[in-house]
Amino acid sequence: MGIAIMEKKQHSHSTFLFLLVFLTITRAQSHVPAVGDPGMKRDGLRVGFEGWNFCNEVGQEAPLMGSPRAADCFDLSVDCSKNLFLFSSLVIPDSGKLIHKVTEADNKLGVGQPFDGVGPQDINNTDIYAAKKELYLGSLCEVKDTPNPWQFWMIMLKNGNYDTMSGLCPQNGKKVPPFDSPGRFPCFGKGCMNQPILCHQQTQIKEGTMSGGFSGSYDLGFDCDDDGYDGLSYYEVIWEKKVSVGSWVFKHKLKTSKKYPWLMLYLRADATKGFSGGYHYDTRGMLKILPESPNFKVRFTLDIKLGGGAKSQFYLLDIGSCWKNNGTPCDGDVLSDVTRYSEMIINPETPAWCSPTGQRNCPPYHITPEDRKIYRNDTDNFPYSAYHYYCAPGNAKHLEHEVDTCDPYSNPQAQEIVQLLPHPIWGEYGYPTKKGDGWVGDARTWELEVGALSSRLYFYQVSKKKIKTQMQLFSCEIDN
Ligand SMILES: *[C@@H]1O[C@H](CO)[C@@H](O)[C@H](O)[C@H]1NC(C)=O
Ligand SMILES: *[C@@H]1O[C@H](CO)[C@@H](O)[C@H](O)[C@H]1NC(C)=O
Repeated sequence: MGIAIMEKKQHSHSTFLFLLVFLTITRAQSHVPAVGDPGMKRDGLRVGFEGWNFCNEVGQEAPLMGSPRAADCFDLSVDCSKNLFLFSSLVIPDSGKLIHKVTEADNKLGVGQPFDGVGPQDINNTDIYAAKKELYLGSLCEVKDTPNPWQFWMIMLKNGNYDTMSGLCPQNGKKVPPFDSPGRFPCFGKGCMNQPILCHQQTQIKEGTMSGGFSGSYDLGFDCDDDGYDGLSYYEVIWEKKVSVGSWVFKHKLKTSKKYPWLMLYLRADATKGFSGGYHYDTRGMLKILPESPNFKVRFTLDIKLGGGAKSQFYLLDIGSCWKNNGTPCDGDVLSDVTRYSEMIINPETPAWCSPTGQRNCPPYHITPEDRKIYRNDTDNFPYSAYHYYCAPGNAKHLEHEVDTCDPYSNPQAQEIVQLLPHPIWGEYGYPTKKGDGWVGDARTWELEVGALSSRLYFYQVSKKKIKTQMQLFSCEIDN
């Protein structure tokens, strides 16, 4: 899952709002849905929540919030006696009952409290406890399907504050002692890496419409019953659907504050098992088939209502995956696993750092749809403005080109990031071709050839052997 950490975002009070409707991921050739609930049409919804600190762990739980993993999963049971049958044609039901799978007691489970699947050796470890709680919630939400069951969409919230004196984050997977680095990362002082206050409106049904949500703040004084949140950070995800009609709509809102200037909120479709990018534990998700480049595409509708200003990024789609520099799949060894991210930033205020004079910020070469390589020193032909930034894994030993290495602290393992900007060359894959495409006032349904595009992006690898790149998950990111 994509956490691109390379800019310091000191921008206060920026807000993002977006709506996402019917996400479908299909394997292009066979049109087999890879995602559970393609089109988000199923009345019974599955939503998970997770909070991450700067290096994708928990660190410390927020007071009274339990471990930052939660879920809202339910099935709809239609009460037939209340519906009309006219000449044996069924009138669409407008009522029913939601049968919830997860209780508030489950959601509040916190370190030290037992549940099915957490052993005594892990029960006091906040990081491992959260990973196990995700598996437990997944087991409550799981929907049987072929060829694999699936569990939930994942709402992921990340606090970009990093207290370098906390000793909490490894450096490219290696444990490092606390270090002093004033001003390099946002942090107001001790405790700045806290987990959020989580308020849950369990999904309800009213007059034929189901809706529910997660919301809250990183500011620990936040009160769920109080709707005044001036000056405090705020996040909100609301889901809504009419019974038997259309698709689920997800409405996201994110606001930073002085103390929390860098926040991220994603809606993710993760692999239903295995090591997702950015995470060294087994995860649960929606991808019952792991989409594999180049044969998959993603369809969704996006309507951005309000941007977050020049220093924020908005990812139309973020793909995260994990493989080692020798091409073998990740196995949880954080010293050799490498998380790979590729994302297109559609905030039109985001400039291309890659340029003829800033070649260091570009990938070594661009690959055309005809599979031709254009080196970045080919100033007549390289599409500089199609790339915002590239950085190489911090554990790469044979870099042939002068490039930045990615931030070593913000993921549990080394990471590699390729950031794209709208450009005519991406039109071939259904991606935005010019600044402003898909932005505020330009709501669209996208059908992205994600697999084809991702198979033509440069990623670092040592061996020349052809690697089957597995793209493990997607994220729409709000990164303030
Ligand atoms: C976990 O912490 C509790 C409370 O401090 C303690 O009683 C218990 O022995 C600990 N369990 C393990 C396995 O360390
Ligand atoms: C451009 O870069 C490629 C690959 O690094 C190198 O082989 C080539 O000599 C370079 N060309 C120029 C004109 O510097």
